Amino acid sequence: MTKHNLIADVLRLKSERKALILAHNYQLPEIHAVADVIGDSLELALAARKATEPVLVMCGVRFMAETAHILNPDRTVLMPDINAGCPLADYLTPELILKTKEEYPQAAVVVYINSTAACKAVADSVCTSGNAVKIVKSLPHRQVIFGPDNNLASYVQSVLPEKEIIPIPEGGHCYVHMQFSPDDLVEVKAAGISIIAHPECPEEIRTYADHIASTGKMVEIAKSGDRWYICTETGMLERLCVLCPEQSFIGNEDAICADMKKTTLQELLVCLRDLSGEVKVPPEIMDGARKSLDYMLSVP
Ligand code: 13P
Ligand code: SF4
Repeated sequence: MTKHNLIADVLRLKSERKALILAHNYQLPEIHAVADVIGDSLELALAARKATEPVLVMCGVRFMAETAHILNPDRTVLMPDINAGCPLADYLTPELILKTKEEYPQAAVVVYINSTAACKAVADSVCTSGNAVKIVKSLPHRQVIFGPDNNLASYVQSVLPEKEIIPIPEGGHCYVHMQFSPDDLVEVKAAGISIIAHPECPEEIRTYADHIASTGKMVEIAKSGDRWYICTETGMLERLCVLCPEQSFIGNEDAICADMKKTTLQELLVCLRDLSGEVKVPPEIMDGARKSLDYMLSVP
């Protein structure tokens, strides 16, 4: 079947199933072509929470589908490829959170949205790349246990020196955001190109950035300049080219998230046809995880 026919079939099935297709910014362009909502983790969570369609199809990675189910449990949440996970999320376990909490009983626990539902269930709040600073600042606690991304933790610490951020686990990081080199950024700066980095990048990269932002926020920022180097997953370059046709974008084409690229049109078609790939958060962790997400979404 040609891509054109596949797209037509997906759109027909989407309408028959009364489904809402949500896609992360890093997804393939052909997935974006059939999606109703495209955005960053926070934008997808908010869209899932207010969705009235009976079926939500999450084209992204597992924690995004879990989040959609937690925030809107009466909908059927499907993933076209249920093996699409997030290696960063897999670094953290609820056991490690509880053990660290015993060592720091006065500390609050904030988990990055890139975490399992079981981790969210034992946290005080969730945060995303776009609101991590705001969420940590909002808590009355001076000490904050923060996981699983050590780079996002160090970014929050740099902005909020009055807090003591306790990063867990040791070495938690996203391999995609380790693909950028300071030498390249020196050259980019010398050529007069501005840099936007995702906060999952290590400090040695963030230090060269003119802006540090979530993937959603990158779109807004990019409109304020002409030439940009983007330190995040390469799919974002295509997305920015579509949304900001007046600007130019470069980055590292090797910064590829293998899991984000697992979802194909063929799988999406099968998922809509068979209503397969359902993601359900177990009832025993649902309430705890929802509380942490609700706290995040309640902070103005
Ligand atoms: P955003 O919420 O900024 O899109 O980040 C999600 C992610 O997984 C980045 O690697
Ligand atoms: Fe996870 Fe990194 Fe992929 Fe984002 S880019 S989904 S943090 S592995």
